[in-house]
Amino acid sequence: MLEIRNLTVFIHNKQVLNQVSLSVPKGKVVGIIGESGSGKSVLCSTILNLYRKERSAKGSIEFDGKSLLSIEERKMREVRGKEIGLIMQNPMSMFNPIVSIGGHFIETLQAHTKMSKKEAIEKAKEQLALFQLGNVEILNKYPNELSGGMLQRIMIAIAASLEPKLLLADEPTTALDTMTQLEILKELKKLHEKTAMSMLIVSHDLGVIANLAEEIVVMRRGIVVEQGPTSHILLHPIHPYTQTLVAARDEHSKLEELADKYEGSVSGELVLYDQNHWVRMEGTNR
Ligand SMILES: Nc1ncnc2c1ncn2[C@@H]1O[C@H](COP(=O)(O)OP(=O)(O)OP(=O)(O)O)[C@@H](O)[C@H]1O
Ligand SMILES: [Mg+2]
Repeated sequence: MLEIRNLTVFIHNKQVLNQVSLSVPKGKVVGIIGESGSGKSVLCSTILNLYRKERSAKGSIEFDGKSLLSIEERKMREVRGKEIGLIMQNPMSMFNPIVSIGGHFIETLQAHTKMSKKEAIEKAKEQLALFQLGNVEILNKYPNELSGGMLQRIMIAIAASLEPKLLLADEPTTALDTMTQLEILKELKKLHEKTAMSMLIVSHDLGVIANLAEEIVVMRRGIVVEQGPTSHILLHPIHPYTQTLVAARDEHSKLEELADKYEGSVSGELVLYDQNHWVRMEGTNR
């Protein structure tokens, strides 16, 4: 489906990706994890062939029989949205404040298909039902009338309405609170279960990635340091950076478990003071 080989990218003479290779097989969910600045977003924008003038790229990106690095812009426009859907970190930035939600469905569907306005609204209603986004009234609402989590769910529904072969999600949950993050994760999982759409999900949160992806690619400073099946990465991380991420995730889930147990019975915050011991700190702001 998507096959990236030895992708090296320079932006303004600075190397940001170095010989990156990865593939997203048909129907699979692949997760990319890496600290801030590791080149995850540059990788996504290079796949979509955005900002062509600002960067130089070597290597190859093959998608569904097309070479995306050398494809004409006119053809690339047909790929973006229709064949490769995109979900971004900040949903607000993807919505036009003066266009209603229904209007966004219509604009997107009409830009990529031959649907009439009426057909587009019918499709929008179908998507609302599919994603359990509630009453059709929501189509008359404007972006600023809705929460970030709701907008993100709508963005997923809009992207999915074009039935892309691949969905690219760059940090789809980072801008949201924990509860909403979980909802978005569930939404993406549901979408994958219903459609078997291939997905490339980017995050700096191993919990998010481990929850969704069957394969994990670990990036650091523009290099893929490790990749493999999720269970393998979690159980046998090889690169020290991956080991740190896995250890942090394990501690985090332990802390959450304990915090749940103590909820309501003790005040103060639970703090890990060494590898195996937890203490509750009274009245600290740690
Ligand atoms: N337009 C640009 N001009 C110059 N440098 C850029 C540009 N875009 C990205 N970079 C650089 O490329 C590197 C990778 O950035 P990128 O945004 O891909 O990281 P990221 O892994 O997505 O980080 P984050 O987790 O913070 O989103 C960074 O060093 C960044 O400074
Ligand atoms: Mg990024």
